[in-house]
Formats: sequence, C-alpha cells, structure tokens
Amino acid sequence: MAKFIFIAVFMVVLIANFASSEVAASSVVVVGSSNPKEEGNKLAMVQEEEDMDGGFSSLDGMLQWAIGHSDPGVLKERSEVAQRMSPEELNKRQTELKELMEKLKIPSDAQLMLIAVNDLNNSSLPLEHHLRALEELLVLVEHIDNAIDLQKLGGFSILVRILNHSEPEIRIAAAWVLGKASQNNPIVQKQVLELGALTVLMKMMKSHTTEEAVKALFAISALIRNNMNGRSLFYQEAGDTMLQEVLSNSNLDIRLHKKSLFLIADLAESQLENENTAEVSFFSNRLLLKAIVDSMASSDLDLTEKALYATKNLLLLRSTDVQLFKDFCKLNEVLERTRQQLNDLSEEYAMDVESLRKEVNLTFLQKLNEVTQSAL
Ligand SMILES: *[C@@H]1O[C@H](CO)[C@@H](O)[C@H](O)[C@H]1NC(C)=O
Ligand SMILES: *[C@@H]1O[C@H](CO)[C@@H](O)[C@H](O)[C@H]1NC(C)=O
Ligand SMILES: *[C@@H]1O[C@H](CO)[C@@H](O)[C@H](O)[C@H]1NC(C)=O
Ligand SMILES: *[C@@H]1O[C@H](CO)[C@@H](O)[C@H](O)[C@H]1NC(C)=O
Repeated sequence: MAKFIFIAVFMVVLIANFASSEVAASSVVVVGSSNPKEEGNKLAMVQEEEDMDGGFSSLDGMLQWAIGHSDPGVLKERSEVAQRMSPEELNKRQTELKELMEKLKIPSDAQLMLIAVNDLNNSSLPLEHHLRALEELLVLVEHIDNAIDLQKLGGFSILVRILNHSEPEIRIAAAWVLGKASQNNPIVQKQVLELGALTVLMKMMKSHTTEEAVKALFAISALIRNNMNGRSLFYQEAGDTMLQEVLSNSNLDIRLHKKSLFLIADLAESQLENENTAEVSFFSNRLLLKAIVDSMASSDLDLTEKALYATKNLLLLRSTDVQLFKDFCKLNEVLERTRQQLNDLSEEYAMDVESLRKEVNLTFLQKLNEVTQSAL
C-alpha cells in the first residue's frame, strides 16, 4: 500500500508539471524564459503521454486519480511557466522526466502480485510481511484481469493453503482475498473450487472469531453465486445445515444472519431459473425453513426484509412444500407478528418492508390455494 501512495503522490507532482495536454515541464524548472511555445511540442507531448500509457498500463487509474486531485490553479500556473520555455528547454525537460520514470522503475500490477505471491510462499518471512502481501493482493484483485493473472502466478493455491494458517488474521485476509477475486469471475471461481477451498471455508464458519466467520461466508457466497458447480458442492457439503446453524444462533453477529439470508434468497433464485435441474433437499430442510421464517420478526428492519425476500423466493419454487411453511414454520403467525411490528414504525423504510410482507402473504395464500385446489 505504501508503495501505491508513494507512486500516487509522485504522480500528482508529475501531473502538475505536465499541466495541460499542450506542454511539459519539470518541477526543477520554475524560472522560464518568455519564448512562445511551438506547435511541435504538442506532438512531442502527445507522444510522451502515449509512451507512458503503453509502458505503464497500470498507472492509468493513478493518473486519473492524480488529475482529479490536482489543484487547477496550480496546474494553470505551471502551464503558464511552461509556455514561456524555449523548445530546447522543453525537450530537455521531457527527456529528464522520461529518465525519472525509468529510474523509479514503477512496477506493473503483475510485478506487484508476483512479489506478494513470493512473500506469501516464503514461510521464513515474518507475519507482517504476509499480512502486507495479502493487503496488496486485496486491492489488486479488484481488477478482473489481475485476478486472472494471479491464477497464472499460482497465487490461488497459496491462498487456499494459508486458509489453514495458525494465525486467524492470515486466515481472515486470505478468505477475503479469495472472495474478492472470485466475485463474478467464473475462471477464478472454478480454480478456487477445484483447489478445495469451499470445504475449508465452511469449516472456518465454526470459528469463534466473528470476523473469520464473516469473511468465510463472504468468500463462500462469492464462490457459489452464479456458479452451478459451486452450488452443487455447497449442497453436497451440507450447506443447508451450515446456514441453519447460523440463523438459529442468536448469539452470532447480525452480519452473519444477513449474509446467510441474502445467500439463501440468491440460491432460491438460481434454483428458480433452473427448475429443470434436480431438486435439492436444501430447500426442504425444515429446520432451515423455520429459521428463515423466524428471522422475519427481528427488530432489525434490514434483517426482516432479507428474511421476507428469501421466503418469497422459496415460496415461488415449484418444489416447495407450502404445507411445511404453514404447519411447521407457522408462517401465518409470524407474518401477523411482523405486520404488527412494522405498523408500530413510522419510517418510510418500514412501509417498503410492509409491502414486501404483503407480497409474501399473497404468494403464500396463492400457493396454499393451488395445493388445496389440486387436492380436490
Ligand atoms: C525467504 O525469505 C528469506 C528472508 O528474507 C530469504 O532469505 C529467502 O531467500 C527467501 N526464500 C525464497 C525461496 O525466496
Ligand atoms: C512456493 O515455494 C515452493 C518452494 O518452497 C516452490 O516449489 C513453489 O513453486 C512456490 N510456489 C509459487 C506459486 O511460487
Ligand atoms: C487443512 O488442514 C486440515 C487438517 O488440519 C487438512 O485435512 C487439510 O487437507 C488442510 N487443507 C489444506 C488446503 O491444506
Ligand atoms: C394475508 O392476506 C389475506 C388476504 O388479503 C388477509 O386476509 C390476511 O389478513 C393477510 N394475513 C397477514 C398475516 O397479513
């Protein structure tokens, strides 16, 4: 991170000196002559910019950032100074700048990742080195291209290996990086799943450290969302029991409850989109269904909303046994209790949640009706 900040600060200085797209100057030059600038310099400047982009593609974002954070007044002043320079001086400055960039050896993202991977793979390095490497990876893998490059560097096998690290901090950071890299990235999801990460992450859910469980659940969700193989594995590994245990344990952090409900809603939605695939027992685990329904009556509106949403998606599934919702989960009673709770609140959000609750009630009644009809 420190490296990034250094580079970013350096770029601000650099940009201030480049000023407008017409002229280049270096911070060393402040006292300029009053010669008018020549047309040729424009071309030279454009050329210089292209070289920079070509040579340091990862700097692009930083350049944008630096431009955004530069004081326009300073930029203008510098550009005026530059405009007074002779073509010879300008050329000299441009050469100096180029040399400076080369001397600094600003590394590419791939190089930064290679350093981080090597550090992580070196068990004789102290813990702080490993944490720093993980922090860098966390930022780098946000770009989908970097996440794929990290795979080529063998980074994921190391990350999965250290999910077993003896230090919780390392495990937490590794799960976080794996989650970030897997989000919406089928290539990474596939590899990380093949490396057996899901089993380890599901074990991490039993951790007594809240943060570890939160990051593990984050990574699990990232691995199985929009990924059919991931979902199958999750079902095979008794993901239903895992989520039911989270939801039934009121001592756990509410973030875990919210993330679980969100994941369940998402899984049900995926199932809805592929109703032809084999039915999964996941959605008929009655203890899980009851835990979801019971979450509705929470005093946390966001949790109530997520529980309602998950219930709605489950009720929409053809395979859902609505009788189970009625008799075992007592959905009617919980909906009524939730209605009373929501009515006591005046905020607008509560009204939104109440309309979702009404929707769930209607979906529920319709489904009950269908079943009664077909039984006749
Ligand atoms: C691991 O780190 C130590 C300490 O910095 C270093 O001496 C050693 O060469 C490194 N090993 C590898 C394989 O890079
Ligand atoms: C990690 O280090 C081992 C040797 O200690 C080496 O065989 C392996 O290739 C390294 N892995 C990566 C991804 O660099
Ligand atoms: C993690 O450790 C467990 C036992 O402690 C072991 O069975 C498992 O293979 C290890 N997983 C990885 C990915 O190293
Ligand atoms: C569900 O909807 C029906 C029909 O509109 C209504 O009679 C009933 O009171 C509603 N129940 C709950 C709990 O909202």
